[in-house]
Amino acid sequence: MVINIIKLFIFIFSTIVLSACGIDTDKALTDLDGSNIAASDRNNSNAASSNSVASFDPQPVNNFTLLDHHGRSHELFYYDDAKAIVVMIHGNGCPVVRNSVSDYMALSKKYRGKNIRFFMLNSNLQDNRESIAAEADAWNVSLPILVDDTQIVGRELGLTRTAEVLIIDPRKREIVYRGPLHDRVSYEKQTDKASNHYAELALDALLAKTSIPAANEHVKGCLINFPKFVDTSYQKDIAPIFLEHCVRCHQKGGIAPWAMNSHAMVQGFAPMIKEVLLTRRMPPYDGDPLVGHWQDNPSLNYQKVFTLLSWIDNGALKGEGGDPLAEYQSSLSEWQFGEPDLIIDIPAFDIPATGTIEYRYAEILNTHDEDVWLTAATIKPGDASALHHLNVAISDTGNNIAEAIADGYLLVWSPGTNLGKTPEGSGVFLPKDSKFMFEMHYTAYGKESVDQSKLGLYFSKKRPEKIMRFGETAGALLEIPPFRRVYDAHSYMLFDRDATIYMLGPHAHYRGKSFKYFYRYPDGREELALSVPSYDFNWQRGYSYLIPKKVPAGTMIIVTAQYDNSRFNEANPDPSATVRWGAQSEDEMLTGAFTFSWDDETSQHKTHDGNRWVINKKVGYLDVNMDGKIVASELPADRRKYFDSFAAQVDSNGDGAVTYQEWQAKPSVPFF
Ligand code: HEC
Repeated sequence: MVINIIKLFIFIFSTIVLSACGIDTDKALTDLDGSNIAASDRNNSNAASSNSVASFDPQPVNNFTLLDHHGRSHELFYYDDAKAIVVMIHGNGCPVVRNSVSDYMALSKKYRGKNIRFFMLNSNLQDNRESIAAEADAWNVSLPILVDDTQIVGRELGLTRTAEVLIIDPRKREIVYRGPLHDRVSYEKQTDKASNHYAELALDALLAKTSIPAANEHVKGCLINFPKFVDTSYQKDIAPIFLEHCVRCHQKGGIAPWAMNSHAMVQGFAPMIKEVLLTRRMPPYDGDPLVGHWQDNPSLNYQKVFTLLSWIDNGALKGEGGDPLAEYQSSLSEWQFGEPDLIIDIPAFDIPATGTIEYRYAEILNTHDEDVWLTAATIKPGDASALHHLNVAISDTGNNIAEAIADGYLLVWSPGTNLGKTPEGSGVFLPKDSKFMFEMHYTAYGKESVDQSKLGLYFSKKRPEKIMRFGETAGALLEIPPFRRVYDAHSYMLFDRDATIYMLGPHAHYRGKSFKYFYRYPDGREELALSVPSYDFNWQRGYSYLIPKKVPAGTMIIVTAQYDNSRFNEANPDPSATVRWGAQSEDEMLTGAFTFSWDDETSQHKTHDGNRWVINKKVGYLDVNMDGKIVASELPADRRKYFDSFAAQVDSNGDGAVTYQEWQAKPSVPFF
């Protein structure tokens, strides 16, 4: 009863206050009923009732991950070593934001070196990354502007207006201040100087660990349109989203720990579903959606996130009708591309219940008695919960798996990928008397088991026109210092003939943080091909072009990666280690894998030379400054000593530098 009276009071009071500031009272009403009441307005109504400076009631804040206007990924809790995280709400074209932004930038400069993170955040429906980047340029914003393209974060933070400033105490995971930056700017008027620096006072109080004052003023900024949630039908709107985006892993026997096989399951997990959307953990997809056009992108768009949030907010109800999730027939017991022409049993492996599992390797002779061309290969997992990913290569030379992959790559498989088919008109050669080499990565899932997976191969009816080939740039000079939070590395390969590229597959280990692929064309122009802003070792995926990419002779494929060897990287097994190139997960890799075909090569007329291809890869990491020449001074100290004896054999014009062409002319000379 008491609560109801208070509620009624707040209701009447806020309605007056909100109407006075031009806020849509209808929306405010729903906010009051729901949990989503805008905190700024709540505080404003408090503050308006008294002139004394009240202290602010902290609000818990949940983790979230967003890309900024440059496409870089930021996770809120990754910055929990900061003393404070300050976020000002951005909106293109809002005069209050435009007039305040230089003061906000000045504030961020004033606190430089004090371990405080400053961001802006844009949840506007009408803005997108491109238009936000243009606005940032025009108003000299050099701070990252987080782009809340599905509005999920803005809703979670209870935003109503741009220009609001939020101060987060990362240690307590609380919002300790929200309100205006200062009192200098209002609608259609501004003064030269602010007399109250609310956000700065709050920040100082947080740093001094004293009581944090609340602003006794409303936030002035532009209203953000968060459309009201809609009625949804579980059968027509919700279950189809789960079936399309989630069930390939979340089914009985699938890799995910729980199956979306009834309404009760997804209703129970509804708050967790919201959390994985906020943090972009699910569906697993690391690629920047605005760079390149790829097959098999499971990400949810604005509309689908909005529909799911509407349903969750409304109790995640089932309503009248059947349960499409319960009716779904598992797809795991079948072969992805139908019955294979040849099935290979991979040796069984024991899976422990817990702990990390080193890569497992196996070799199996190919007993098929004739040469064939393959157009597809896939895996039927024995224990899909444990089998994380698997590499398969064909070898007819008795070399190791790494060399075999460079020469006879067949498949990288992980649950739910559709990478197994070679592109239209191309194939992979499987000679008789060859062998299959397997590299398997398992993850423990709390229960001992045995994995007995099978490889299914599909033969081409006729000889394919093109040979699908595999390449990888390798950053073999990696040397990541202990505790280093940002370490950049790169490597490249050169297409010395016209080529067509089908798939890009970045690969690093636990310290890998982000990846980019570029093409540098013969005229020097560079094009960003793929960006993976938050690389996750757990998900080994390839990005297959929707339309294969043609590159002219002389194009370099450049791969850059960033590593995080600090304790802030949760996957890091040992921040105190110096990390170098190596096959184990505790070592690192910078592998920019790709599949392609040479435009001048057909299955009748081979032009690929494996030896030269390997030299090409080595030039791509020894030539650190990417000018096409290897010189002693660009090599790390421990490699420099090999240079003289190497150059003596290869440097044919004696200018002290080794070019790709010089080395190609003497392919049998190793670097060391
Ligand atoms: C490619 C496989 C895959 C897809 C697709 C996928 N998930 Fe998952 N999901 C997983 C795995 C694996 C885990 C367990 C992760 C772990 O060990 O923390 C998981 C865990 C979860 C969890 C538990 C919380 C957590 O982080 O562990 C939720 C909730 C979830 N997924 C929701 C979804 C939703 C919703 C979708 C579709 C929009 C989806 N998943 C799509 C594989 C997948």
